[in-house]
This record gives sequence, C-alpha cells and structure tokens, in this order.
Amino acid sequence: MQPPSTLSTRRQIQLPSKRQLECTHTHDKEKKEMYCMMTMTRFSHNQKMTDLNEPEAKLEALLDIINSSARQAIAEYKNTGHGVPSADAATFHPLDSATDTIALKKAIRLLEGAYHQLSTILAPPQHTLMNFVFNYNWACIDVALRARIADVLDKHPEGLNVDRLAEAVNLDKSKTARVLRALSLMGCFKEVAPDVFANTRLSLILKSTNNTGCLAGLHSQDVPKYAGVLYESMTDEEFAHSHEPDKAPWVLALRKEGMKGNNHWELFKNNDEKREAFQRAMLGLNEMVGASAVLHHYPWDNISSVVDIGSGIGTFSTPLAKMFPHLKITNQDLPQVLLQAQNVWKKTAPEALLDGRVEFVPFNFLEDVPVAGKDVYYLRNIIHNWPDRDATTILRNIRKVMGLNSRVLIHDCVFFHTLQEPDIGTDGLSTAPEPMLPNFGAGAHRSYQMDMTMWLIHNTKERTLGELKILGASVGLVLTQVYDLVETMVVEFRIAQS
Ligand SMILES: C[S@@+](CC[C@H](N)C(=O)[O-])C[C@H]1O[C@@H](n2cnc3c(N)ncnc32)[C@H](O)[C@@H]1O
Repeated sequence: MQPPSTLSTRRQIQLPSKRQLECTHTHDKEKKEMYCMMTMTRFSHNQKMTDLNEPEAKLEALLDIINSSARQAIAEYKNTGHGVPSADAATFHPLDSATDTIALKKAIRLLEGAYHQLSTILAPPQHTLMNFVFNYNWACIDVALRARIADVLDKHPEGLNVDRLAEAVNLDKSKTARVLRALSLMGCFKEVAPDVFANTRLSLILKSTNNTGCLAGLHSQDVPKYAGVLYESMTDEEFAHSHEPDKAPWVLALRKEGMKGNNHWELFKNNDEKREAFQRAMLGLNEMVGASAVLHHYPWDNISSVVDIGSGIGTFSTPLAKMFPHLKITNQDLPQVLLQAQNVWKKTAPEALLDGRVEFVPFNFLEDVPVAGKDVYYLRNIIHNWPDRDATTILRNIRKVMGLNSRVLIHDCVFFHTLQEPDIGTDGLSTAPEPMLPNFGAGAHRSYQMDMTMWLIHNTKERTLGELKILGASVGLVLTQVYDLVETMVVEFRIAQS
C-alpha cells in the first residue's frame, strides 16, 4: 500500500524522486536521462520563479511545465515496456486499461492545465471564447455512437470509403463525411485517403461494447437537453432557489416535453434497458476517472469486511473480491439493482459466490441502516448524487451501525476552487505549481464538468474537502485520511472521539 499523497507546495513541480525512478525500472538508462532532464527543468523553472510577476516569465514557466509533464507521461508509457502510443494507433495501448494510472494522470493534469493556460494567454480572446461555444463535438459523437460507425470501421482496419460506410449505417454520405472530418480534427477517426476513414485509439471508445462509449452516449444524447434549460432553471420561480432533486434542470426539461419526473433514480425502476445502460455507463465513468486505483492505494490487507453502499452491479466490489480473496463483502443497493448485480456476479466472479464470501442485502439507504459492525462502509459516486440533507441521512444511517474499528470511505471527485481555501488548507492534497491555478485549471476540466452533470441531473454538486468534513461532523464522524487518486479522492472518516 502506498501512503496518501504527500504535501506539495505551490512552488514545486511534482516530479518523481531519484529513488522512485531508480528502484522499479527496467529501462535504467532512459530513466536516469529522464531524471536529469526533469531536474534541470525544475532548476530552470525555480530560477524563473523569482520574477514570476513578469508576464513573459509566466509563459516560460508554463512552457517548462508542459515540457516536463509531457516527458513524465512519455516515461509512464515506456515503463510498460510497450513504447509510446503512436499518433496513428488504431489499437489501445496496454496502459489504457491499467487499473493504476495515477502517475500518468498526474502528468496529464499538469500538461492539460498548462497548455490551455498558455494558449489562452497567447491567443486572441475572441478566438478562445468562441472555442468554448463553437463546439459540436458532442453532436458528432452522438451521430457516430447511434449509427455505430466505429463498429463498422472496426471490420475495415485499412479504412472504408465513405460511400460504403454511409450505406452500411443508412446515412447520407456527404453528411457522414462532414461528421467524421470534424471528429478527425481531434484525433477521433482518421481520413487515411480522400473520403476513406478508419478507426483510431480514440474512436475505438465509440464501439458499442465500450463502457466509456456508453457514458459518452448519456452525455451526448440526454444531458444536452437538460443543459439547454440551465438558464431557465435559474430564473424560473419554482426552480431558481431550490436545491431539491425534484427541481433539477432535467425535471424542467422533461416538463417541456410533456413528461413528469421527481427523482432521476425513478427512471430505472421499471426499465431494465435504461438500468443496464446506466450501470455500464458507471463502469465507463470509473474507467475514465481511474477509480480502480483505490484497489492499489487503500490498505485492504488490513481489513476483513467491506460494505459497498449503493454498489450497483459491483463495479468496485467485484474486482475487490478478486484481488483480495480474504475480504467478506456485502453489496447493498435497491432490490431491483441487486437482482441485476447477482446475475452479473454469476458471470464475472462465480468463485466468490461459491465461497460464500459475498452477500447481497437490498436496502434503501435513505430509510434503512446497512448491515452492522463491518470494517469499511464504502460509498463511491453516491454522496455527490444527494443534497446535504439526504447525504447526511445516508451517513447517519451508517454511523448508527458502525463499530469502534469501522470507517466510512467517501470516494468522489473532491473539488478544489481556483483560489486556495486558507481556512481549509490542502490537507496534503496536490496543488499546481505557479503560475498555474492551484486547482490545475483546465487540468481539472472533467471534475468541473462532473459537477455540472450532478447539477443538471440531481440538482446536487461535487463537494470540497471542507464541505465533506462538515457533513461528516454533523453525524459524529471525523476525517482521518485522504487518498488522492488525482481525478477522485477517497476520504476516510471514523467515529469522532468525544
Ligand atoms: C451513481 S451509482 C454508483 C454505483 C457504484 N457505487 C459505482 O461507483 O459504480 C449510484 C447507485 O446508488 C443506488 N441508489 C440510488 N438510490 C438509492 C437508495 N435510495 N438506496 C440504495 N441505493 C440507491 C443506485 O441504484 C446506483 O446503483
């Protein structure tokens, strides 16, 4: 098990220590070169820190960060022994499906934050601002997903002429080509010869079997409708000041279509197809944020029993059971979800069911307490779905059955604002080096978009560490540890000693 993230100050670029680089690597020469290069970059970066108030020094510092973080990412790919991904790749790189990508994600967070900040400073403002709204990538992705274009191209690795492709997916050929060209600009599909298109490593995500593609489908098809009424939901008398789930923008969007809705979870109650798509999207979400890193970075060896609260089909608990066969695992969710979960477990981890170390206990976490006296109560992608009142109810129900050794793990995106919060500090969490925004700016893009998704669908939010502490304290829990997994965090609480 690795310790939680160490404290990093605003003036440090996060680089691996010389020891880290030396101890694990097979490609020693490359690693040492990388270390020297990065140490030099840090040296020159720190020197420039003295005059970081100068606009040009900021640009130079951002260039240094881009350089060192890109090289760190290259090193992470090379560490796998499979080289770096090629621009033309039409297959996944082994690192794409690794369960612990923390080091790569740290490098990419710096890279994305720094290059976005650099181009925003250098580009004309009208150019950058219009880039925000002049963006139909989501609509083009929606076409590609619904027409299953990536599935068709998968059978033609050398590429397929758009005439035949359009015929296969029953769309107009010139319109299909325009959609594919717009996406090819961004590396999703490629035009290998005039009017001949092929898959890339990005467009493979759009195959119908891919879980992240399923998540992309929810965001390209349904969520834009809710986003379309955001302003109305902020000005409508009934919705504007409410933080109740039945006043989420999606409720307003449904109303405009003549339909009714109260709580997003109702959508799945009697609809197997929607429930299945949602659970696959959950798998995709966890792949996108690299949530499986929790399997490697929490001390599961020292734990005997785990309750997965709002387990879904077991996207967390199934790999946990496989990796740590000593654990007793309880899955708790709504009854209809657990029926689906048991079918999935029978297929994916039958050995754990036969051993009797996994149980399924249906409950409603807003009304019932979970099973009592277990070591860990784990909540992934749960607390951010609920307003403070309901989140407190869920935690209070858990608190009632905790033993002295029990702990609650909240695993969500944890928010950092663009200005440091002096009363809260960083609690050992990483902050970006200057002149980047402390929260990594555009490097934290997906967390801020996730916060918007929570708003649009549930009228809820991602929380800061300070807000989570307050939630815990309100039910007698105290924050004891934070595990920084880059895009998500695992925040551990125990019973507060009075
Ligand atoms: C966003 S999903 C997260 C699933 C899983 N923890 C993961 O990370 O993949 C939220 C889960 O909460 C469950 N849920 C919603 N309302 C619930 C309730 N009142 N009681 C118990 N579970 C509920 C849903 O069925 C769903 O499986």
